[in-house]
Amino acid sequence: MCGIVAAVAARNIVPVLIEGLMKLEYRGYDSAGLALLNPTLTRLRSVGRVAELAEQAEGQVAHHGIAHTRWATHGVPSERNAHPHVSAGVAVVHNGIIENYAELKQELTADGYVFTSDTDTEVIAHLIRQTLKSTPDLFEAVRLATARLVGAYAIAVLQEWDDRIVLARHGAPLLLGLGEDGNYAASDASALLQVTRRMIYLEDGDVAELRRDGVRIVGADGTAANVPADRPVHESTLSADDVELGDYTHYMQKEIFEQPQALAATLEMIGGAQTLSPNLFGVAAPEMLAGASSVLILACGTSYHSGLVARYWIEQLAGIPCSVEIASEYRYRVSVPDPEQLVVAISQSGETADTLASVKHARALGMGRTLAICNVAESAIVRECALRFLTRAGPEIGVASTKAFTTQLAALFLLAVTLAKQAGRLTPEQEAGYLTALRHLPVAVQKVLALEPAIKVWAKRFADKQHALFLGRGHHYPIALEGALKLKEISYIHAEGYPAGELKHGPLALVDEDMPVISIAPNDALLEKLKSNLKEVAARGGELYVFADADSAVDEEPGVHVLRLPEHYGLLSPVLHVVPLQLLSYHVALVKGTDVDKPRNLAKSVTVE
Ligand code: F6R
Repeated sequence: MCGIVAAVAARNIVPVLIEGLMKLEYRGYDSAGLALLNPTLTRLRSVGRVAELAEQAEGQVAHHGIAHTRWATHGVPSERNAHPHVSAGVAVVHNGIIENYAELKQELTADGYVFTSDTDTEVIAHLIRQTLKSTPDLFEAVRLATARLVGAYAIAVLQEWDDRIVLARHGAPLLLGLGEDGNYAASDASALLQVTRRMIYLEDGDVAELRRDGVRIVGADGTAANVPADRPVHESTLSADDVELGDYTHYMQKEIFEQPQALAATLEMIGGAQTLSPNLFGVAAPEMLAGASSVLILACGTSYHSGLVARYWIEQLAGIPCSVEIASEYRYRVSVPDPEQLVVAISQSGETADTLASVKHARALGMGRTLAICNVAESAIVRECALRFLTRAGPEIGVASTKAFTTQLAALFLLAVTLAKQAGRLTPEQEAGYLTALRHLPVAVQKVLALEPAIKVWAKRFADKQHALFLGRGHHYPIALEGALKLKEISYIHAEGYPAGELKHGPLALVDEDMPVISIAPNDALLEKLKSNLKEVAARGGELYVFADADSAVDEEPGVHVLRLPEHYGLLSPVLHVVPLQLLSYHVALVKGTDVDKPRNLAKSVTVE
């Protein structure tokens, strides 16, 4: 989604803004722009890549500036809709959606303000200019103007002849970077590593001011927040390599191959332990987890799929009822709250608007046992929850989530085993066995990655297909859903995931020689049932691509292609079986020549609903 970079510094900040926008490209965008103060305003905008904006900006020198990548919500991607939006000498960049923009626009139009774009953002620029008439201080004007906004926003504002940049945050991410020669702000830390590691995460309701020699923050209650007492300064531990492509062609490829390290880092805290402590999830976890009557998992997209796998684990191991809901549905439906229920929010970014709102909704319904499973410390979802488990996948830049998913699964398995232990359902041997299996995961995933050459060969056969069906059973059914999501999002092939037992209740009607059917066939209790389902496909002329285990006894025959994973991995098998599906979609996308890391219409961090 939209990305913001802002800088006030002694150095020329134009290269900083451009480099920052390039680091935010992964969030997804369709146009880009910047405004520089010299001390009057220069605005540059372009549709397409940041590289085009960089060409326009060549030769520019400035010490104050704001920059933006836009992911269109209101108004088509075009230069006139690209940010910054300007009202006389005021320029604004914005991430989020202003829900009451139509009524504000009407009011401002009646007041004589002329709109030149279709965006909701332009109302913010005019509103600040209007407020400046009665409140001539930019900081105060931004505070008063944003108080009238309904919706989500992170904004950066500058005004001609003013040596500050003013920022405000409500429901969309924004952080400050404290530099040696100036101060900076951005939507995420990766944009600012080029100039500083010292970051302050703004909170909802904060208004902040960047000057060359310092920063000032005023919180939602209108009182000044002291740095570092009220807004601690975090030293970012991200390394430049974490966000660089290195020897890889795409971030998605890099992130698929980083999964062994990502899993090892996530599981580092269990070390060589033979027993699990609930404190892994936070100091209040022993009490909160022990008293949980049931589990409600809230998430979107790929994170939702990890929750679906966890349901199988939690109910089987811990014997506690577990439901999994798409966050955007849960937040708006009338549900039956249970104050004793453990609410688990799963999110790679920690900023997904629907997931965040669903946790707030659960809390408003009286459910205080909240746990975030998240890849970004200090993100909004982590801060919203009482308990936290941080996956340590490192930054995930490719829009299609891969290593975040497998590390979420590892975290959720730890949760299931912890709940089982607290419910008195584990022998010490079983507990030690699960921990050993978890520790072996990085090696097991490494072996699965070795299937890549064979998967490449399969991928060529998918490139001319319009549709594909993914089948799985039991805790591999969510892996079928995830495989289908990966294929559709980066190769644009229409794909559906189905529990194989549902085939003859409808989807079998779609099967013919043009519909490849991908099946996950681990050697588990449902294998024989799955084989019968596969026969139904073969009998209708469907071409089967089966990911089996070494000992699954599924044989190659005309129309049935089989790749074997090195070992059967019991309950943790979904973590292994998703890897070849990630590789398959990656290679199909390569053959089709689509933009793997930035698929059309999608954004990485979905900060609007
Ligand atoms: C798909 C994908 C998305 C995200 C979803 C939730 O590959 O990445 O479906 O999983 O937008 O995002 P997070 O996990 O950041 O809340």
